Amino acid sequence: MRASSLGRCANVALAVLLTTIAAAAAAAAARTKNECHAGDKAALLAIKAGFGNASYFQSWTSDYPCCEWISVFCDLSASPYTLRRVVAVSFLRDASLVGPLPGASVARLTALQQLILIHVPGVNGTLPRDLARLSNLNFIDVSYTGISGPVPWFLSRLTKLTYLRLSFNSLTGPIPASLADVPNLSFLDLGGNRLTGTIPPLLLSRTNDTAYLSLSHNNLTGGVPSDFAAVRFSSLDLSHNALAGEASLLFGLNKSLEKLDLSHNAFSFNLSAVTLPSQLGVFDISHNDVYGVLPSQVAKLQYLNVSYNRLSGRVPIGGNMDRFDQYCFQHNKGLCGTPLPPCKQ
Ligand SMILES: *[C@@H]1O[C@H](CO)[C@@H](O)[C@H](O)[C@H]1NC(C)=O
Ligand SMILES: *[C@@H]1O[C@H](CO)[C@@H](O)[C@H](O)[C@H]1NC(C)=O
Ligand SMILES: *[C@@H]1O[C@H](CO)[C@@H](O)[C@H](O)[C@H]1NC(C)=O
Ligand SMILES: *[C@@H]1O[C@H](CO)[C@@H](O)[C@H](O)[C@H]1NC(C)=O
Ligand SMILES: *[C@@H]1O[C@H](CO)[C@@H](O)[C@H](O)[C@H]1NC(C)=O
Ligand SMILES: *[C@@H]1O[C@H](CO)[C@@H](O)[C@H](O)[C@H]1NC(C)=O
Ligand SMILES: *[C@@H]1O[C@H](CO)[C@@H](O)[C@H](O)[C@H]1NC(C)=O
Ligand SMILES: *[C@@H]1O[C@H](CO)[C@@H](O)[C@H](O)[C@H]1NC(C)=O
Repeated sequence: MRASSLGRCANVALAVLLTTIAAAAAAAAARTKNECHAGDKAALLAIKAGFGNASYFQSWTSDYPCCEWISVFCDLSASPYTLRRVVAVSFLRDASLVGPLPGASVARLTALQQLILIHVPGVNGTLPRDLARLSNLNFIDVSYTGISGPVPWFLSRLTKLTYLRLSFNSLTGPIPASLADVPNLSFLDLGGNRLTGTIPPLLLSRTNDTAYLSLSHNNLTGGVPSDFAAVRFSSLDLSHNALAGEASLLFGLNKSLEKLDLSHNAFSFNLSAVTLPSQLGVFDISHNDVYGVLPSQVAKLQYLNVSYNRLSGRVPIGGNMDRFDQYCFQHNKGLCGTPLPPCKQ
């Protein structure tokens, strides 16, 4: 009797205790739901202050859990009781963000994997050195900003980097050769800057993925590095530079190229002597010094432009050829036949 009432009391006490624990846990879960790690939150607030509390950051207040702040992305937390880590920040299309990227504050987001700033024209200054400390970064897209200065060599310290886009900024100087050291870098777009110097050898030669490279609209000189013969490009855009010389090493039936744009350079090679890659769909060599005849394989392309070169011979027929007007072939030495005037003889 005494034992059983004691037992019942103990059971009640246990039930109360369990209920209390459950309630406390639920309250903790409610508090931590979408709340981020304290260090990350402090870093985010420092970024906000670094941009002078711009209107972009209106949602960055304690009224909302920080994983719900605009532009902030947290990891999928392992448990509802743990504070989530900020793994990505993405600042998009806003003119209220003005001044340099607060690098030291961004570098305090130690779990950051993705850094994105696109169409934020007021963000200027150079890419801060502190970014090199973010060893988990695998994706950087900083494009259409006011950022100037060099493409920093220290980006090659980010060994997990697979995707690097720094297009349409005001970057100057050479492409650092050390970018070739990043083992898994397979996407590199530095187009639309004012870069000078030559294309570093071995760029993108280490990745086992197919490679995407755009260096278009810069002021690059020299030739195509001979190592590019062995890179498995899916897309290569070297257009609108001052590049010259041979480019036939990029061709061959078993190459993985789907898009090749060499337009607006001074490349000079014999097109008769090359075989187009079997997957090639987009092919632009306009405004160069390419000679020889058009291979019959051009008839299977989706896009073709060979204007302003020194090509000769008959324009192939059949396939997709009726899609391509005279402007795709204009200003060559001796091209003839539909859609150009008929060949003599
Ligand atoms: C931004 O907000 C913080 C916190 O409210 C404040 O301490 C700081 O002075 C503000 N900075 C500017 C430039 O308004
Ligand atoms: C960044 O932009 C601000 C505002 O336009 C300007 O005052 C500042 O000089 C610029 N800084 C750099 C490094 O261009
Ligand atoms: C590169 O990618 C491979 C395959 O996905 C992976 O095993 C390796 O750890 C990566 N290297 C680095 C430095 O991230
Ligand atoms: C690419 O694959 C080779 C062979 O499987 C491997 O030895 C090399 O480490 C890989 N490289 C990367 C960067 O993953
Ligand atoms: C490229 O270089 C040429 C010659 O040095 C110069 O005239 C031109 O302005 C440069 N273009 C760009 C986009 O920097
Ligand atoms: C592609 O062809 C070249 C020469 O024609 C050959 O050396 C190379 O091994 C081939 N690559 C593949 C992946 O078949
Ligand atoms: C271009 O290559 C073709 C085929 O290999 C060859 O017959 C022709 O003589 C070459 N033209 C020049 C100008 O070297
Ligand atoms: C091909 O290039 C020429 C010269 O830049 C240009 O006038 C023409 O519109 C281009 N054709 C196409 C289909 O883009």
